[in-house]
Parts: sequence; C-alpha cells; structure tokens
Amino acid sequence: PAPGWAIDSDVVVVGSGVAGLTVALRCAAAGAKVIVVTKAHLDDGSTRWAQGGIAAALGDGDTPAQHLEDTLVAGAGLCDEDAVRALVTEGPDAVRRLIATGAHFDTDAAGAILLTREGGHHRRRIAHAGGDATGAEVSRALIAAVVSAAPAHDDQGSAATDAREAAALPHPEGEGTIDFVENALALDLLTDAEGRTAGVTLHVMGAGARDGVGAVRARAVVLATGGMGQVFSATTNPGVSTGDGVALALRAGAEVSDLEFVQFHPTVLWLGPDAEGQQPLVSEAVRGEGAHLVDADGVRFMVGQHELAELAPRDIVAKGIMRRMQETGAAHMYLDARHFGARMWAERFPTILAACRAHGIDPVTEPIPVAPAAHYASGGVRTDLRGRTTVPGLYACGEVACTGVHGANRLASNSLLEGLVFAERIAADVTAGREPAPGEPVPPAPAGRPLLASEARYEVQRIMSAGAGVLRSAESLTTAAGALERLHTAAVEAYDRDGKTAEPCVETWEATNLGLVARVLVAAARRREETRGCHWREDRPDRDDHAWQRHLVVRLTPHGT
Ligand code: SIN
Repeated sequence: PAPGWAIDSDVVVVGSGVAGLTVALRCAAAGAKVIVVTKAHLDDGSTRWAQGGIAAALGDGDTPAQHLEDTLVAGAGLCDEDAVRALVTEGPDAVRRLIATGAHFDTDAAGAILLTREGGHHRRRIAHAGGDATGAEVSRALIAAVVSAAPAHDDQGSAATDAREAAALPHPEGEGTIDFVENALALDLLTDAEGRTAGVTLHVMGAGARDGVGAVRARAVVLATGGMGQVFSATTNPGVSTGDGVALALRAGAEVSDLEFVQFHPTVLWLGPDAEGQQPLVSEAVRGEGAHLVDADGVRFMVGQHELAELAPRDIVAKGIMRRMQETGAAHMYLDARHFGARMWAERFPTILAACRAHGIDPVTEPIPVAPAAHYASGGVRTDLRGRTTVPGLYACGEVACTGVHGANRLASNSLLEGLVFAERIAADVTAGREPAPGEPVPPAPAGRPLLASEARYEVQRIMSAGAGVLRSAESLTTAAGALERLHTAAVEAYDRDGKTAEPCVETWEATNLGLVARVLVAAARRREETRGCHWREDRPDRDDHAWQRHLVVRLTPHGT
C-alpha cells in the first residue's frame, strides 16, 4: 500500500539486535544520519536471549587460524573461506570495540576475560557475561549507546517515538545521529526507476494517531531482522523471529541462499511433547564446563560417536540425541551436571538455573530433560564480504544474512561475532559513499495483497515441525510442501476472486512472512538430496560432495509472495 507519510535519512537499519545496533552506531560515528526501525521494542529480538557467549581468538595460545579451522569443519564443506577469515581475524578487535562501547564481560581477578568452551571448538574461546547472560549484556550496552546518541524521545514509558517528529529534530551539523522507531514492521523495499534502494515502507502500530503505513527514504537499507525460528512449533527464538527480513528480501527480488540449513540446538529444556513457542535454552557452555549427555539409564551415548563426545559440533550432537531417542523410544534425553554443585550453578549459570527451577527441575540434584529444538538459520539473504545483497543499496547483517561464514552448520557462538564483524564492514561500505544517490522512489502499488490469517502461523509451524524438522525425508518434505502450497493458494484465490484478504496488521504480516520463508525452505530441503551439516535427510543419509558441495540460491520475481 502507498505510504501515508515519509521521512528522510541516510541509512535505515531494520532490526535492533547486535547486528542492527552495531551498524547504526558505526554509521553514526562516521557521520551518517541513521534511523533504526524495529518491530517491537529495542530489546525484544534474539540477541538478549543468547547465553553462551561470543567466540573469538582472545586466549593465550589461541589463533584466528585455529578458530577458522573449527568454523570450516562445523560448516561441513559449505563455508566461504574468505568470509570466515574476515570473521576470525577481525573478531578479536570487534569484541574489544564492543567492550569499549560499554559491554562488561566476565573476567578473572586480574581483569583477563574468562573464556569457556562450546561444541566444535578445540579451545576455550567463548567470552561470556553475567555467567550465562551474554546476549542480555550485549543488548543492554548497545541500547544504552544508541539511546544516548538519539535525540530526546517523547515516549510514555517505552522508547517509542514518532518518526515524523524525531526526523524534524535538529541534528548537529557534520555529526551522525541515530533515531529509532519502535513498533514498526518493515514491509517492502522502495526502489528508484533503476532498481536502486531508495528506502523502505513501514507499518507502524500501537502509536495511536501515528499508526499506519509510512516510509523512510534512504540510500541504504540494512536488514538486521534476525532469524525465523518461529517457522517451527518449538524453538529457542522469541516470538518476533518470523523471517521478516528474508521475506522482505525475497519480495524485493534479492537472492536468498542455504535456507535448508536450520540449526537445531541439541539441549533445549524439554517441557513435554506439546510444548510450543519459545523454549528455554540450556547453553552449550554447560557441556563446555563438563556436563554429560545421558539416556534414561545414565549411559553417556555421545562417547565413541565423536572425538569431542558431548562437545562435537552441534549438528552431530543433535543427531546423536535424536538417534538415541529413536533407539530407546524416549521423548528426550538428559543433561547431567549435578557434579557442578549448588555454588557453581548459581554463579556460572544463574539464568539456566532459574529457568529450570521455574519449570520444577533442580539441576543441582537431578539431570535436566533436554531435546533438540529449532535455534538458528544458517542461511539467509545472500551477501558479499561487505554485506551487500544482490539489490544495490540493500544490505543484510546478522542471522538474516547468509555471508558464507556458517556454511551448512554454524559453529557455536559465532553468531554474535558475525553480527559485530559484518556490521562494521557494512558501516564502512555505506559511509564510504561509493554509490550514487538513488532517484525518486517508484510509488508502491496502492492495492493490498493476499495475506494469511494470523492463525495460519500455527498451521505453518505444525506443518514445518512434522515435515521439515530435525529429521526430514522426501516423503515428509513433499507432504509439507503440499500443505504449505494449499494454505498459500487459498489466500491468493480468495484475493483474486473478490479482493478479500486478512486485515493488514503485524500478526497477518508475520503469518504471511512465515508462510513464504517456509515454502522456500522446504523447496530447498527437497532439492538437497543428501545429508550435510544440519540438513538431515533420513532417505539420503550420506554427504554427497560430488553432487551437492554447492549452494541453493533462490530469487523470486519482485513482489512475489
Ligand atoms: C548456547 O549458548 O548454547 C548458544 C550459543 C549459540 O547458539 O551460538
């Protein structure tokens, strides 16, 4: 739909996690005028849920080369080595700059950063904060920095702001600024007649008279919308992780790659067979500090399966758990860390301890029931090493992006690092001003489009968990593809017949975005007829480097749904 209002900026950042806020801070530091738009509140994304930490070669004797090697092994032959090299060599300084921005990491008495281990890492390399609350500290520090860089807001209790008024505030000449707009869902990319990025349309809600469709005009749009874990019934991701950035990029005609590689975290607190939505994570760092995975008889089933046993890359641990569940008919396995004792639990893993106890489990005295759940999208919007997508002026950063650093399976704790490193690369590219300014945006079509009803979200999740979860086969994927297609076709036919569609609102847009990314994900998973990384085909159990050491890249015609 046509925007009812428009404001101007140099850069629009869509999303407010580690990636988005770092892009915003670095662009503003280089003199750009930045607007951060975010679907809910600034701290509602995935970043604040990250537990384990940030991987970087910060420890004595560790090197970027060793970090590179572990990342490539986890990525199962599909990493882009240049992207990984950028990640691991620029990583340590990016972490130091995050600390300079105000994030406090756990240190020893001498002030040295404490490092833990996680799956796939051959060394202690994971910096953490608040024990197991790293993401919360990163989010706090970045939000504090962004808010202090922003003009005063007219919020009533939250940091919500009226974008039109904010944009009219004076900005000191020559200095960059950051404004932010909360409760603003990005809908579609605006482009000029040459196809260059010219801004983005937004649906702003919950702001009374300010609600409605508007636009931010800018020469660069950075997607930093996070992941799509909500495409499955059970996930570690918060409710806002609905694939909005990938869906927007697909509608804009940008290339999307590797969507079949959904990472299932091996140890998610098991809350029963019917548990739905966001589930509590039990960090890999718990295994890094010595917890054991056991079955109901107390047998350590990962020993002998991989030289790193419980600390194998997470696809191998998730498969080990699923296999043992199949063999024994159990609905979950156990993580046993009783030997940590009460003090270590309280000091090192306070978040996990509290989550377990809130669900009636005391990890000090009993093993924790765990099972794999959807955790991370290794694929996403395809970018180059500067974070550029295939649409000029459109960038992607963080989980929404596919930079090539994760390949077929992300190495633990490389995600916050990727957000930091590639945010800095994007900010450098955007503020270098190499691109010509876009012309006037082509006005979007005034008509609406077929949207899925909000309840369709749960239907998509059921279809995806049944057919495209940890274990997949040609049969299960074909069933999923058919069910998703029926959902889509029914909405399109109703719209074509009599112009009827679900009322445009955040819930219907989210359901529509989930439906779109699910269809693309399932199509890729059907095509990849092998098992590799976190894509596990029961009917094609082997890795096939001859046919499949390559990426599946998807591009829709612009405005396709
Ligand atoms: C964890 O703490 O286990 C999650 C770390 C990650 O997903 O990288």
